[in-house]
Amino acid sequence: MPHPDPIIELEETRHLDSTLRPENFSHYIGQEVIKKNLHILLTAAKERNAPPEHILLYGPPGLGKTTLAHLIAKELNANLRLSSGPAIMKVGDLAAILTNLTPGDVLFIDEIHRLNKMIEEVLYPAMESGKLDIVIGKGPAARTIQLDLPPFTLIGATTRISLLSSPLRSRFSGGVYRLQYYNEKEIATIVKNSAQILGTTLPEDAAYEIAKRSRFTPRIANYYLKRARDYAQVHKAIIDKEVVDIALSLLEIDEFGIGVAERIVLETLVNTFNGGPVGLNTLAAATGEEEATIADVTEPYLLQIGMIERTPRGRKATEKAVTYFKK
Ligand SMILES: Nc1ncnc2c1ncn2[C@@H]1O[C@H](COP(=O)(O)OP(=O)(O)O)[C@@H](O)[C@H]1O
Ligand SMILES: [Mg+2]
Repeated sequence: MPHPDPIIELEETRHLDSTLRPENFSHYIGQEVIKKNLHILLTAAKERNAPPEHILLYGPPGLGKTTLAHLIAKELNANLRLSSGPAIMKVGDLAAILTNLTPGDVLFIDEIHRLNKMIEEVLYPAMESGKLDIVIGKGPAARTIQLDLPPFTLIGATTRISLLSSPLRSRFSGGVYRLQYYNEKEIATIVKNSAQILGTTLPEDAAYEIAKRSRFTPRIANYYLKRARDYAQVHKAIIDKEVVDIALSLLEIDEFGIGVAERIVLETLVNTFNGGPVGLNTLAAATGEEEATIADVTEPYLLQIGMIERTPRGRKATEKAVTYFKK
């Protein structure tokens, strides 16, 4: 059966992400604690002339996991090999990736929670002692051979750490790092840098207007910047606060940063279910969204800005949400 090349980047947005990806750590804004820890890990490894231990990055989409992997490889002067959980479908796929590494390579496995059990079991000894066990043949004639792998660093990334088995988690001995949401000031700095990369200017108040609505997420902020730039170009204007305002209104992003997906969930909760509480599966069925999408993407922001709350009996709309729809 044909299947995708395991060494690929799967992200749909990879073009936008890679254009605006910072080239060095000094342009990687925020995440100060992670940067400090990584600095020590990487410096110590370089001094020992050995690859750093394996690193796990987790947190919501768009906060900078893939970018960090790029920066780590760059800092180490190492090749970055990109793969992902869903792309590694067979043990043979993983074996091919591992045996093709050169010493010191950084292997990035995105969405690592989606690796299946059999593949995880091949990964354990590879991570722990650099050994690859391969079974050759079938039935009574089958035998296992062990290959020594070149020293490498695995960087795993996941949005759903709870789905990672604990034996796998425990093998990231270089550290398990949780990326945090950014504050407005950090996002404003990120979009100002992005504007510079795009060769355009972005006044302070316009940068903050984007930041305010970007769900504390750099990927979303960069996306909004691009839309504002398009709007300004078509109308032969410069990107100012007003242009940002109009461009985001066209995208149906309101002043709270609530977009169509959030609004549907919120509206269903408030109007169809009378404010709840209602279970995630019911909410998913009623809105036509996947449970995981609501739980990982839509809901966190609504929780953060206090529009909904999680109770033992399900999701509940807050007073703020009810007021929001009365306007
Ligand atoms: N700390 C940061 N500083 C500057 N830009 C960032 C930062 N974090 C993310 N970005 C930008 O946001 C976009 C999404 O980041 P990415 O690393 O692809 O997120 P993830 O892999 O966590 O989904 C990229 O264009 C990236 O350059
Ligand atoms: Mg990514």
